[in-house]
Amino acid sequence: MCGIVGYVGERNSLDVLMGGLRRLEYRGYDSAGVAVVDDDGAMETAKRAGKLKVLADELERNPLHHGGTGIGHTRWATHGGPTDRNAHPHLGDEGRLALIHNGIIENFSELKEELLAEGHSFESETDTEVAAVLLGREYRAAGDLRTAFRNTVSRLEGAFTLLAVHRSEPGVVVGARRNSPLVIGLGEGENFLGSDVAAFVEYTKSAVAVGQDQIVAITADEVVVTDFAGEPVEFESFEVAWDASAAEKGGWSSFMRKEVSEQPEAVANTLRGRVVDGAVVIPELEGFGDDELRGIRRITVIACGTASYAGMVAKYAIEQWARIPVEVELSHEFRYREPVLDADTLVVSISQSGETMDTLMAVKYAREQGARTISICNTQGATIPRESDAVVYTHAGPEVAVASTKAFVAQITALYLFGLHLARVRGTLGEAELAAQLAELTAVPEKIEQVLGEAGKVAQLAHWMADTRSVLFLGRHVGYPIALEGALKLKELAYIHAEGFAAGELKHGPIALIEPGLPVFVVVPSPRHDRSLHPKVVSNIQEIRARGARVIAIAEAGDAAVLPFADEVVRIPLASPLFEPLLAVVPLQIFAMELSQAKGLDVDQPRNLAKSVTVE
Ligand code: G6P
Repeated sequence: MCGIVGYVGERNSLDVLMGGLRRLEYRGYDSAGVAVVDDDGAMETAKRAGKLKVLADELERNPLHHGGTGIGHTRWATHGGPTDRNAHPHLGDEGRLALIHNGIIENFSELKEELLAEGHSFESETDTEVAAVLLGREYRAAGDLRTAFRNTVSRLEGAFTLLAVHRSEPGVVVGARRNSPLVIGLGEGENFLGSDVAAFVEYTKSAVAVGQDQIVAITADEVVVTDFAGEPVEFESFEVAWDASAAEKGGWSSFMRKEVSEQPEAVANTLRGRVVDGAVVIPELEGFGDDELRGIRRITVIACGTASYAGMVAKYAIEQWARIPVEVELSHEFRYREPVLDADTLVVSISQSGETMDTLMAVKYAREQGARTISICNTQGATIPRESDAVVYTHAGPEVAVASTKAFVAQITALYLFGLHLARVRGTLGEAELAAQLAELTAVPEKIEQVLGEAGKVAQLAHWMADTRSVLFLGRHVGYPIALEGALKLKELAYIHAEGFAAGELKHGPIALIEPGLPVFVVVPSPRHDRSLHPKVVSNIQEIRARGARVIAIAEAGDAAVLPFADEVVRIPLASPLFEPLLAVVPLQIFAMELSQAKGLDVDQPRNLAKSVTVE
């Protein structure tokens, strides 16, 4: 899983490549490299282990020549550790061609044996170099890059986006994709390729998503797309809805800090245009007629990481509003357990990137089994929406920090809109009730804004707790997935052992973990509602407090019942139960971010992670 960028045009391609890689670095950041070809066919490459900065410093010391054709790569290691040698590009045809790759070539060992037997040699441990050497061999046979590239990709199995340049054909970058993303940026007298539009949005907003098993060749003036057999393919462009500044830090100390602060906007933008005269309008679901939605017997939500917790929150709302059973499953588990699916099952996938391989494979599997599929996605033109029957985009804007924040609240928002739409179509909620829920939803941005006002207090807590080695998170009902998300954020960002539990489960085991001084965050439900779980959660707090835990309660404004038992209280505004998760998650995000910073860690690019995991 890596970031890929390609360019042909008048500019110094190195500038375009490095700018693009900076924006794609979230996809992997253990090594980076570039190859640049000038008009006379001179090719230079540079690659370095470490973050992009290491390569940038190297290029400052030893600049490459000015060339209008180039490819660049930022890596998240799969085959072969993160070393200079394993960094991309890899070379073939005795150094005359350079190739970069995102994905995993599953049949690389048999290809490598074939090439070794023919006398070719290898310098790295990567699967990618096999593709480079194979392309070199095919180039020698065919004498032109496009044919050689076609012959090469046809031999590969697995997941790959590949880009290649050859010094005998300056002014051309070829690319191909299978199960990994590739987007074309259409410019005037220049063209771009990227893993996503962030790679080139600074220069053009006109983009084309390359389809599965397609090949593209760009020159400065032309874009040609074919299938793997070389047959031309028609393509349609789309306009990128956000501009480059949206992906820049804009004065914030980290992308995560910026993205946390953008959450009111992420929710508001996801709602925009979808609540009309007190009713939900989702034009993207036109393909799903009301009759079909009435016929659904079961919803299965599939997702990974933070997105799966958004799905867990939505389960409570959709079941309550639309009276349909909802199950939530991790994509990688779903795919391999022969789930029972039929045409009455709706499979809803959730993915910020739209490229998570586990989720993509699960969606494909669901379709093969005859289920209908809807994608909740934040990235235009990504693969999962294209593989689904319909997509409801979250409009959180580009999320760059690896740990997800604003995408999470936008995902819950989109799922709630969908749940309310279903409830109307199925007649399970009356007009007044629907209007009340929508009013709650539209009030969320303003309330998140208020929670952000508590950031200073949460930051102080985090700084006091910088030496903490373990933290627990408890919640019930919709507070339970929020506890899980709070724990995930802390693991991801601060590398601290953290566990989230359903508070009711405490007495069945986890209470044994409680020891004097152990910090425990408790998401406390509002006491103001019938059948509120508030008294039960307060009892849970008493149980752990009695055993010495240090309790930090996330509780609504005015809830005095928690005061005698909590060491610290972080307040959230009043909201009905289903809307509390959108507020309660914010202090937990801030806590993890501040603790990470207090420990001097990289908040945006935590160790060992990558934003979109495009390998299974
Ligand atoms: C990775 C990221 C997580 C993210 C998960 C799902 O594991 O590190 O932060 O929640 O992928 O990503 P997606 O793009 O599918 O929402």
